[in-house]
Amino acid sequence: MKPRVFVTRTIPEPGLEILRRHAEVEVWPGDEPPPYEVLRAKAAEADGLFTMVTDRVDRALLEAAPRLKVVSNMAVGYDNIDVGAATARGVAVCNTPGVLTDTTADFAFGLLMAVARRIVEADKFVRAGRWKAWGPMAFLGHDIHGATLGIVGLGRIGLGVAERARGFRMGVLYYDPIRRPEEEARLGLEYVGRLEELLPRCDFVSIHVPLTPETYHLIGEAQLRLMKPTAILVNTARGPIVDPRALYRALKEGWIAGAGLDVTEPEPIPPDDPLLTLDNVVITPHIASASYATRTRMAVLAAENLVAVLLGQPPKYCVNPEVLAGR
Ligand code: DGY
Repeated sequence: MKPRVFVTRTIPEPGLEILRRHAEVEVWPGDEPPPYEVLRAKAAEADGLFTMVTDRVDRALLEAAPRLKVVSNMAVGYDNIDVGAATARGVAVCNTPGVLTDTTADFAFGLLMAVARRIVEADKFVRAGRWKAWGPMAFLGHDIHGATLGIVGLGRIGLGVAERARGFRMGVLYYDPIRRPEEEARLGLEYVGRLEELLPRCDFVSIHVPLTPETYHLIGEAQLRLMKPTAILVNTARGPIVDPRALYRALKEGWIAGAGLDVTEPEPIPPDDPLLTLDNVVITPHIASASYATRTRMAVLAAENLVAVLLGQPPKYCVNPEVLAGR
């Protein structure tokens, strides 16, 4: 009998092919995630779960899943999974770092540019038939070249953004609990040991930390008030790292100049959220890793991770490898 795997969304075919070679695979159809109760019922009968960032895998779900051996997330982030509860039950949790780094860094830089140069706002203006003449004062924005970028979290994606910033001759500062002297030398980065010291010095701030209890609302009123009134905040990490109510006030009252958000709190952002009334924010629906090639690589890597655990082999990426030791 083949093991059973539940896949919570339609994924690129190469990922499914890998799963089907080794398991009985059920795929939740459509573009929306399965409701929590459905996921819990499916998990109760599964040996493996192939999940997305939208799927909550909590203690109750894990406790009701006696056969479950692996939860493989098609994402680098895994804050949707209770890793502690999974570890306690001997369930491996896998993720997909590395394969989405450049695609996500490209997008973070794209958001930064879109907000700084008001690209989305200007496009709406043209479509509304309001472009009457070239204007010497029309759509003035903020220069990117030569400006100072602050990176909060110098992991893989933060580094990717720093590499891109070099091409724009930006000064790059970073804040991270771990100092990276070799990257400082390679990319000409300046380490700033406190977030509160970094924020007032930057024209752009880009967030690249995982969501943990420590980073929840890391950027709130106090931090936004430290930023320059001309500064732009970019978040492609996780929505709850930024306090949305404080951000609304910062953008409305001019504490900062703009924001680019690929992630929000909550997701999806409700249509009546006050942030959507502002012109100085660009919001996209959590698509930073969404290129054809990268989503295929993510699906393949997540499938390979899942299959490896089911076959009793070491997966390429496992966030709680201690559960594999005893197998
Ligand atoms: C991740 O990988 O964590 C993203 O948020 C989805 O690509």
